[in-house]
Formats: sequence, structure tokens, C-alpha cells
Amino acid sequence: SSVRAVVILGTGDFSRALSTRLVANGYRVTMGSRRPERRNISARSPHLSGVRVLGQEDAVAESEVVFLGIPSTSVMETLLPIKASLRGKVLVDVSNPEVMTKGATVAELLRENFPECDVVKGFNTLSAYSLESGQSLGSMVVHLASDSSQATEKVAAVARDIGLQCVVRGGLNTTRALEDLPREAWGGWGVPLLVSFAVWLLWTIYGTWRYHIHKTHAAERWPVNTNNKIAGCAAITLLALCYLPGSIAAIVQLKNGSKHQAFPRCLDRWLKMRKQLGLMALASASLHCVLSLAHISPAYFKKWYDVRTISIPANQTSDMTFPIDSRMNWIGEVTVYLGSIALLLLCSQGVASLPSVTERLNWRRWWLLQSVVGHIGLLFAVTHVAAKVLPFIFSRPFSTSVQGMSFLSNLLPSFTLLLRICLLLPCLGIPLRKIRNGWERGVDDEEQGVVLDGVAKEEDEDGAVCRMEEI
Ligand SMILES: NC(=O)c1ccc[n+]([C@@H]2O[C@H](COP(=O)([O-])OP(=O)(O)OC[C@H]3O[C@@H](n4cnc5c(N)ncnc54)[C@H](OP(=O)(O)O)[C@@H]3O)[C@@H](O)[C@H]2O)c1
Ligand code: HEM
Repeated sequence: SSVRAVVILGTGDFSRALSTRLVANGYRVTMGSRRPERRNISARSPHLSGVRVLGQEDAVAESEVVFLGIPSTSVMETLLPIKASLRGKVLVDVSNPEVMTKGATVAELLRENFPECDVVKGFNTLSAYSLESGQSLGSMVVHLASDSSQATEKVAAVARDIGLQCVVRGGLNTTRALEDLPREAWGGWGVPLLVSFAVWLLWTIYGTWRYHIHKTHAAERWPVNTNNKIAGCAAITLLALCYLPGSIAAIVQLKNGSKHQAFPRCLDRWLKMRKQLGLMALASASLHCVLSLAHISPAYFKKWYDVRTISIPANQTSDMTFPIDSRMNWIGEVTVYLGSIALLLLCSQGVASLPSVTERLNWRRWWLLQSVVGHIGLLFAVTHVAAKVLPFIFSRPFSTSVQGMSFLSNLLPSFTLLLRICLLLPCLGIPLRKIRNGWERGVDDEEQGVVLDGVAKEEDEDGAVCRMEEI
């Protein structure tokens, strides 16, 4: 049965924000306060003019769903004295503990102390700000955990009514993980950001040494010219770091002769940060593109432009007009073209990783974009850099070419591509495919047949033949 009246204990920021959305969506809201006579809610916000504020015990009688908008440390001391009035209610614990303790969570304590109530944990990942500002700012996803599916459905219905999306996490034993969610300040970005910073730092040191100490370029060339090289090198290195772990995972699976063994911990973590590394590569490549466009000219890239020489006759006395037509030569055109395609493909992956787009992609399309298009993008990036180096590699001393940033930055990406190509060769590709379809080394062949058929059939029906490790 759908609930149209809700009680919220507490009259603070969260309670008022939730009330605003509930009232806007036609809910009857009653707030429970320690001092109802002093809480003139409608004076604080005209949107809350229909909201009644009662004493906590009186308030809970107004609905079967009671949101606990009070500090986590006060939940027990508030609810225990009114235990009898709470019989049969759904208690929604929205709290985020001030300090993480090792013992039971508030929701688990509620389950223990209020066996006649259903406890739901949720809403704690939302901020009062995002609730109040509506769809436009902050997350609109509510995570719910409860031991009662009926109670979860009641609370989920309320959440959906006010425009929130629900993710049901499981029973109350998952509440600790739910409380950890808002604490993950970097949400999976911490290590990838550190890695990106390290890559940038490395190339910055090398680029500065190479061009401003070893080669004595003028210092004023550092912000655009040198940084452009650094950004390009960082982009291609991060791109390689994004695709390398997929191939290493494939080698581990080939070595194990099974896909059922866990990957080494560091490889597992590396696999999980590929999306972030890819996005950091895209950001670096975009900066590189902007910086390139800002200074691409014969003055900086002599070898990319047709050389025009003008001889002025010695006896010339009158004015002369020279057409300036310093067009790019084929090296410049090809290099920029390849780089632009690489950037385009990288952008398509960036778009595909937006949650709103990812949700609409089935597995096959997602794999096509992330793996196939991604590797083609890497190939274009590698050829973009190679087009810059190769035409001149034999006209310079070998040691000079090897020290060049273009040459050095292309080593890891070329190795990554080579590894991927090797894994596509039938001698490795066929066993890898079998392993990913469920085949295991050392398991009876007849048994393999059953497993293989089952998996293949199920996957064909879904149209989803690829998994994370394949990327
Ligand atoms: N603010 C957010 O963005 C947010 C986001 C997610 C979850 N939460 C959770 O929502 C809960 C409330 O947060 P809030 O930001 O709204 O806090 P708040 O602004 O400090 O409001 C808490 C309210 O609870 C009541 N209260 C305070 N101390 C109490 C006590 N000792 N015993 C009983 N009631 C007491 C007060 O209402 P009366 O004086 O009228 O009784 C007070 O207005 C917390 O558990 C928090 O973790 C907050
Ligand atoms: C995914 C996209 C791209 C990657 C990974 C990439 C990477 C690189 C790398 C590693 C270099 C060699 C740096 C050096 O030693 O000089 C380079 C050079 C260059 N790239 Fe890109 N690039 C990309 C896209 C583009 C685009 C779209 C442009 C378009 C304007 C561009 C223009 C240039 C230029 C002008 C250079 C020469 C820089 C110099 O020598 O000072 N790149 N790129």
C-alpha cells in the first residue's frame, strides 16, 4: 500500500530539505521535535507552511513511516522512551556517524532494540543541499538496506515519488558499507589521481631537463611549447596504462588455465581504475590539443612547413610584394590528422563512460567502445607520435632520437599494442577465448563441454559475450 503521510523526527537541515520535497509532491509531513513550540517551520520556509511540528511521541502516531533526521548519537536516547508508540512502524535511519566505531551500526542497534519495527537504512548518501535543490545539483540516487523487503518497498516508493532513484543494497548487514559511501571522499579517484600526478611529474621533470637545461630553449617557451610536449606524453602514457592491465589479466588467465582464480591484488586494483586513467588521458590530450593549436606555426614547427626562400635581387630599388603561403607539409598534416582522430576516439570513450550513457549501452556496445575503439584510439595516438619521429630518425644521431620525448613516450604504448596484437594471434587468442567461456585446464573434458555449452548459450541469448577481463 502506498504511503502518503510521513513523519520526520528532528527539524534540522536534512529534515527540512526532505520535507520540502515531500510536500512539493503532495505528501502530508509531520515533524517531531524536542521543542515543538519553538520550531516555527513555516516562518523559516514558505514551502513548509503545511507541515505540522509536534512532540516526538505525538508525531510518530501520524504515519507508519518515520524518518530519523536526528544525530546518530541521539537516536537511541530519543526512541527508547517512546518505544511503545513505535510498534509496527518503519524506522528509516538516515544517519551518518560522526565517528566510525567498530561495533554495531545505528541500524543494527535499532533492529536489536526495536524488534517490532522494520528498520531501513538509507538516504544517508544524499546531502540536504542536493535534496533541496532538486534534480540539478548533487546525486539523486538513494541507497537502501533492510531485512524487510516490504519495508524497503514502502520507503523506495516514497523516494521514487519525490524523484529519487533507488538502489537496494541488501540486508542490514550491509549498512556499514553504506555508511562508508559518503566517507569515500575521492570515490575511487584517489589512486588514479596520484598515478596521473606521478606521470605528469615525471614528464615535467624530463621535459624541463631536456629542453631547458640540456637543449637551452628560452624559458618563455616553457608554459606552452614545453608543456604541450609534456601533456602529449602524459596523455599517451596514461592511455597505455589504461589498456595494459587488460592484456596482463589475459596473460594471467592463460597461465592459470582458468578464469576462476583471483587476479593478484595489485592487478585487480589496476583493472578497476582503468576508467579513471582513461578520463585522465582524455583530459591531458585535450590540454595538449589546445596548447598545440595555440602555437602551431612555422616559427615553432619548421619541419612541418614548406620552406619558402626569397632571393632579393641586389639591384632592386622599387617595392616588392611577397605572397606568404607557408602551408604545412605532409609530415605536419599527417601528424595533426592522426592526433585528431586519436582525440576523437578518446572523446567517444569519455562520452560512453558518462553514467547516463553507460546505462543505455548493452554489454556488446560497451565492449566495442571501451576495448575495440579504445585500442584503435591508442593505435592512432602511437602513429601520431611515430609520424613526428620517424621521418627524421635516420637524419639525426641515434642517441639524440632515443632521448627525444616522442621516442620515449611511445615505448610503453607500442609495447601495450604489441601485447594486444600477440593476444589476438590464434595460438593465444583461441585458448584465451575458451578460458573466458569457462574452460579450465585440468578439468575433465566431458565436464568442460557441459559448462561451456551452458555459458555460451546463456551469453548468446543476452547478446553479451564479453566481460570486464576482455577489455
Ligand atoms: N545534513 C545533511 O546533508 C545530511 C545528509 C545525510 C544524512 N544526514 C543525517 O541526518 C541527520 C540530521 O542531520 P542534520 O544535518 O539535519 O542535523 P541538524 O541540522 O543538526 O539537525 C538535527 C536535528 O535533530 C534534533 N536533535 C538535535 N540534537 C538532538 C538530540 N540530542 N536528541 C534528539 N534530537 C536532537 C534537532 O531538532 P529539534 O531541536 O527540533 O528536536 C535538530 O534540528 C543526521 O543523522 C545526519 O547524519 C544529514
Ligand atoms: C589522443 C590524442 C593525442 C595524444 C595522445 C598525443 C600525444 C602526443 C605526443 C606524445 C607527442 C610528442 C611530444 C613531443 O615530444 O614533442 C605529440 C606531439 C604533438 N602533437 Fe599530439 N597527441 C594527441 C592529439 C593531438 C592533436 C588533436 C593535435 C592537434 C592539434 C596534436 C598536435 C601535436 C603537436 C603539434 C605535436 C608536436 C609538439 C612539439 O613537438 O612541440 N596532438 N602528441
